Amino acid sequence: MGVFKIKLFLDTANVDEIREAASLGVISGVTTNPSLIAKEGRNFTDVVKEITSIVDGPVSAEVISTDAEGMIKEAEELAQIHPNVVIKIPMIGEGLKAVKVLEEKGVRTNVTLVFSANQALLAALAGASFVSPFVGRLDDAGHDGMQVVADIVDIFDFYGYETEVIAASIRHPLHCIQAAQAGAHIATVPYKVLQKMIKHPFTDVGLQRFLDDWKKVKQS
Ligand code: G3P
Repeated sequence: MGVFKIKLFLDTANVDEIREAASLGVISGVTTNPSLIAKEGRNFTDVVKEITSIVDGPVSAEVISTDAEGMIKEAEELAQIHPNVVIKIPMIGEGLKAVKVLEEKGVRTNVTLVFSANQALLAALAGASFVSPFVGRLDDAGHDGMQVVADIVDIFDFYGYETEVIAASIRHPLHCIQAAQAGAHIATVPYKVLQKMIKHPFTDVGLQRFLDDWKKVKQS
């Protein structure tokens, strides 16, 4: 029996999608990355600020420096935007250095571009609050992305690491089921995947039948 409940984050920088998903009451955080930010064609700080005003939970914003000093500087600026901002740091040696410094200063980090359990272990040892294994991209390369998530969860559970595992690069609803089965703390899902999770053709057909039959019910 798990001691926590899986959370869903939205993996997008589109505020309309975030607003709509937030109104469903099932989203407790947001993850972005430089590609998602670029898609919106807006100022980075403005977007992050707006997202924090919509969702009351962790909002990941990624640094683009590749040296620890640069990452820390960017992170400190991003952290000023809102206390819920979590700094996404790439899983490279310089990133680990930055994670250690930032976490010691009380700035939460999410180590991204994680493709192996060893990388996740290093991120946890450096003190990261979150790690993001990229399931879909591993699958794309012919690996079993969800097995990497399961391995990370097992290792963290065994040693009692508090680092939370975010199943990222989620491509379809089955990934969400598998992330939950693997014991991931969080699955971060694109808006389209969230829509697909809601939908089932039998629900639509069933609802239509109920509505049609209701027309035959005497109303007075
Ligand atoms: O935000 C990181 C991750 O979820 C990206 O997913 O689909 O670009 O591999 P994807």
